[in-house]
Amino acid sequence: MFTYSCDDRLAAVLARTNSQVIQGNMKRIEGLLTMRGLRVILLSMTTALAAHAAVTKATFGTMPDGTAVDIYTLKSDAVEARIMTYGARVVSIKTADRDGKIGDVVLGYSALDGYLADLSTYFGAVVGRYGNRIANGAFTIDGHEYHVPINNNGQSLHGGIVGFDRLVWQAHAVNGGVEMTLVSKDGDQGYPGTLTAHVRYSLVHNALRIDYSVSTDKATVVNLTNHSYFNLSGDGTILNDEVTLPADHYTPVTKVLIPTGELPSVEGTPFDFRKSTAIGARIGADNEQLKIAGGYDHNWVLRGKNGETKTAARVYDPASGRVLTVTTTEPGVQFYTGNFLDGTKYGKAGESHAKNTGFCLETQHYPDSPNHPAFPTTLLKPGETRHSTTTFTFSTHAK
Ligand code: BGC
Repeated sequence: MFTYSCDDRLAAVLARTNSQVIQGNMKRIEGLLTMRGLRVILLSMTTALAAHAAVTKATFGTMPDGTAVDIYTLKSDAVEARIMTYGARVVSIKTADRDGKIGDVVLGYSALDGYLADLSTYFGAVVGRYGNRIANGAFTIDGHEYHVPINNNGQSLHGGIVGFDRLVWQAHAVNGGVEMTLVSKDGDQGYPGTLTAHVRYSLVHNALRIDYSVSTDKATVVNLTNHSYFNLSGDGTILNDEVTLPADHYTPVTKVLIPTGELPSVEGTPFDFRKSTAIGARIGADNEQLKIAGGYDHNWVLRGKNGETKTAARVYDPASGRVLTVTTTEPGVQFYTGNFLDGTKYGKAGESHAKNTGFCLETQHYPDSPNHPAFPTTLLKPGETRHSTTTFTFSTHAK
C-alpha cells in the first residue's frame, strides 16, 4: 500500500479546500435532512466517496542510464488518467463521449521509447524551469545577467536543452492522485538557485487537478505549466472544435515568437474567442500574427486577478460531444494549435501526429516575462513558496 505523506504547503492548500468542501457538504446535508431524509444522505455520501480516484502504480520503462520510470493510474467514476515520472507527463486521459464510448483524449506514445525519441513536442509534460520562451536566452536578476540554453530559433524554449520534461521526477501516491517532486540544482540549465518543485495531480470525479508549488534558495525565475495536447475526438483534426477563451487581450509576438510587450484588444481580430468559435474558422485568415506562428501559438491575458481561480478556456468537440473546461489561478494561457506537429511520428493507436491534430492550453505566466517588467512577475525569491492550480474538467454536451 502507498503512504499518504505530503508536503506541508500543499497540505495547507488542500486543507483549505477540504474545509470548504466539508462546509458545503454540511449545508447540503442540512437541506437533505429537511427534504428527503436519511436514505438520501447515505446515497450522496457513497457517491462522494466513489468520486475520488483509486491510484495504482506500475513500471512504464527504463531510462538509458537504468533509472526506472513509473506510471500512476488515477481512476475515478468518470475519468482514467495515467501520469508517468519521466517529465511528470500525462500519458493518457480516458473519458466517455456523448454516447458513453470511452476514448483517450491526449496525444502521446504507447511506450517510453517514443517519448525519449521525441525532442520537440513536449507531449503531456510539465515544462520548466521556464515554460515558453525567454528572448535570446538571457535575463537579469539583481543586476546579474544569466544565460540559459538557446534551443529554438535563437531563443530559449521550455527550460532549455534538458528541461523538466526530460528528467525523471520522484513520486508518491496521495489521496486520489500522485505527487511528483523535482529538485533542480543551482545552475541547472543556467538558472540560478536550487529550485524544489512539487506537482500534484489529483482526480475527483470528472476533474483532473494540477497543483504546482515551487521554492528556491536564491532568486530565480520560474514558470511551470502542463503541455498536454488534447484531441477530444480521440483522432483526426482539432479544427472543428469550438473554443471559448474569456480574455479581452493577448500578447502578440515578433517573428521569433517573443512577445512584443503590447497587450492589444482581441476585438475585431481572429484572436477574439470571447464567443465560442471553431478553431478552423479563422486560423487561415490573412493576419500577420497567425502567419508568424503558422496558426494559434499565443498567450491570452485572462480576466481576473493573478492568483484567483478563473476560467481559462472551454472547448466543445461537436463530433464526440466532449467538453473540456480549464480553470486556473495563472494570469495567462498559451493556446497552441499544434502548428509544428509534422506527421512524422505516430501515436498510441498508430495515428499520425500531423499538424492541427492536437491543441494545448498551457496555463502560465506570459512568455518572456523576465524581460517585460510590466508583465506579472515570474521572479521567485528565497523564503517564498509560489502555488498555482489548474483544473481540467471533462463533460459532454448533447447534439
Ligand atoms: C510553444 C510552441 C512550441 C511548442 C513545442 C508551445 O508551448 O508555444 O511555439 O512549438 O510548445 O511543442
